[in-house]
Amino acid sequence: MTLAPHIAPHLRRRARLAQQIGKGVAIVPTAPERTRNRDAHYPYRYDSYFYHLTGFTEPEAVLVIVAGAGLDSKPRNLLFCREKNEEREIWDGFRHGPAAARTVFGFDETYAFTELDKVMPDLLTDQPAVYAHLGGDAAWDARVLGWVNEVRNRVRTGVAAPRDIADIHTLLDDLRLVKDADELDTMRRAAKISTGAHIRAMQAARSGGTEFQIEAELLHEFRRHGAQSPAYTSIVASGANACVLHYVANDALLKDGDLLLIDAGCELDGYASDITRTFPVNGKFSGPQKAVYELVLAAQAAAIREVKPGNTWNQPHDAAVKVLAQGMLDLKLLSGSLDEVLEKETYRQFYMHRTGHWLGLDVHDAGDYKRDGQWRKLEPGMVLTVEPGCYIRPAPNVPAAFENIGVRIEDDAVVTEAGCEILTAAAPKSVADIEALMASR
Ligand code: GLY
Ligand code: MN
Ligand code: MN
Repeated sequence: MTLAPHIAPHLRRRARLAQQIGKGVAIVPTAPERTRNRDAHYPYRYDSYFYHLTGFTEPEAVLVIVAGAGLDSKPRNLLFCREKNEEREIWDGFRHGPAAARTVFGFDETYAFTELDKVMPDLLTDQPAVYAHLGGDAAWDARVLGWVNEVRNRVRTGVAAPRDIADIHTLLDDLRLVKDADELDTMRRAAKISTGAHIRAMQAARSGGTEFQIEAELLHEFRRHGAQSPAYTSIVASGANACVLHYVANDALLKDGDLLLIDAGCELDGYASDITRTFPVNGKFSGPQKAVYELVLAAQAAAIREVKPGNTWNQPHDAAVKVLAQGMLDLKLLSGSLDEVLEKETYRQFYMHRTGHWLGLDVHDAGDYKRDGQWRKLEPGMVLTVEPGCYIRPAPNVPAAFENIGVRIEDDAVVTEAGCEILTAAAPKSVADIEALMASR
């Protein structure tokens, strides 16, 4: 077997990590398989950090990078993975095994997963620092510390144990935050599948149908284009359900006159897309629905204008909030002055979440939003969602016409030199475009 195509980016990322470490050992395990009930498992999903650095998708695997190892300071890249096993492969499918994984995934050395506890203390010997995933799983933390302790127990033989034990995520989060060209290519393809799914949902919606039938349309569209999974549980929320932010029951009847809020995106080759569209089940917005919808759309446009290099993470959110707050006053959902609404945050009655999050291998992707107490500056290659909303639950101050209207509009944006590229623009979102598409059903 030879080096798999698409492995080059993973090699580059490992080289960058090794360079940042200087001298020391990085240990990155993949995710465990998880039981759903009795002996049935959840579909397996590898760990995002591990995948970013390896491209390897089998469970029971650990990446180890020994940085600054030799005289030439060339890092050693090691993979521990499952051995070939004819019996298990008949039942569960192909395993690379250490020998093939070495050439296919570009490692210097590979070992059987079962060798981990034996080999790790040797790898940590005379190393100044260990960079590991700490704090996520007590058993894993204990295992890493166990290896360090084993080296400590040998110090009388003249070897040194690592002095620094650091959490590796600070380094890995920064590596993941700015996407490279290969990642952006995958994210564009994921976004294309998801926009197609939202268009299909608009075409399939009918009063008398159900939310789960629309969910099925989405899932079919994701899978038939090769997406492995939804990136998160799809939200298909009609009528008042749209005011439940994480509504996932998806079991209600679609009713004439209701809006349908769909927050759904596929995961393709590890990368998430995350889109929300809100549209009328019957294809035509009512007056109050249109008023709220246009307000959220204007807030989103204002936020997207602020997605550009040099602006801080919070600027798109602030821009969206300002537009929403003024709109809530104009629609008589709130009273007072704009300054008061912003100062007292009374808009939070109808807009209680933030305007976006990083997007990548995880739907809520890795990366800090603040650095040293300051909102982070946007840089080309960062990918974020822009997703303002307005959720109007019945309350004494709410005019009856607006009760139970819930709207969110969400797109995925890549920061570019000039501003941003919207990956999900192909899913219609102007009132005219949505109504035209639905009229052609
Ligand atoms: N779909 C999850 C989110 O929008 O954050
Ligand atoms: Mn989102
Ligand atoms: Mn979403």
